Amino acid sequence: MNVAEALKARVSVRAYKPDPLPEQLLREILDAARWAPSGGNLQPWRTIAVAGPERVAVIALAKASLPGDVGERFVYPPDLWEPHRSRRFKMGEDMYALLGIPREDKAGRLKQFMRNYEFFGAPVGLFFVIDKRMGYGQWAHMGMFMQSIALAALERGVSSCMQECWATLRTPLAAHFGLGESEMIYCGMALGYADETAAINTLRSERAELDEIAEFRGF
Ligand SMILES: Cc1cc2nc3c(=O)[nH]c(=O)nc-3n(C[C@H](O)[C@H](O)[C@H](O)COP(=O)(O)O)c2cc1C
Repeated sequence: MNVAEALKARVSVRAYKPDPLPEQLLREILDAARWAPSGGNLQPWRTIAVAGPERVAVIALAKASLPGDVGERFVYPPDLWEPHRSRRFKMGEDMYALLGIPREDKAGRLKQFMRNYEFFGAPVGLFFVIDKRMGYGQWAHMGMFMQSIALAALERGVSSCMQECWATLRTPLAAHFGLGESEMIYCGMALGYADETAAINTLRSERAELDEIAEFRGF
């Protein structure tokens, strides 16, 4: 798989087989991803991987702590505007349509959303830790690390879903992991083997056309 193919083949997988992900394979994935770039080579990332009983403990923590509170660092800006608002809406609608959960079925949609807090059945969860003193630049660099993990995983047949939903549990997670005073969880990620039979995994999100997002000057 070349890079262009990998960029397209990486999709968010939201149903996994229970098969464990060996620690050695996870180490290989993270070892490849740590070569992600960061401004000034700060490498402002740290990740905590949970599997087995640690994963079970985090899932239990989520159940006990939800809905939680996202704090000042919101997942989406309030009153999201166009075109972002419609893009978000469409992605959600497409996903629930695949699952046959209509808009009126609030309980059904909530139940599906709550699968986030079980890593959608994935055997491994990653949590991305950043120092609160870091600025938006370093948060962007964390994203490069995360995308690198997703691609390195894909190359090894391992699927992923980034999960900022965990942001609402930043406070209990920080206590659970014993994070330093200045540290916080930015985001989570599910990692494992895709359940190829699950309808939700056929979801393919759209992207804005190139000319909507890129401007070419002086060519
Ligand atoms: C930082 C980040 C956080 C995300 N958080 C969640 C999440 O909490 N739950 C979820 O189901 N998907 C989450 N996603 C997945 C996005 O919805 C998904 O990337 C987007 O719809 C594009 O689809 P694709 O990943 O399949 O290409 C997240 C993606 C990113 C990059």
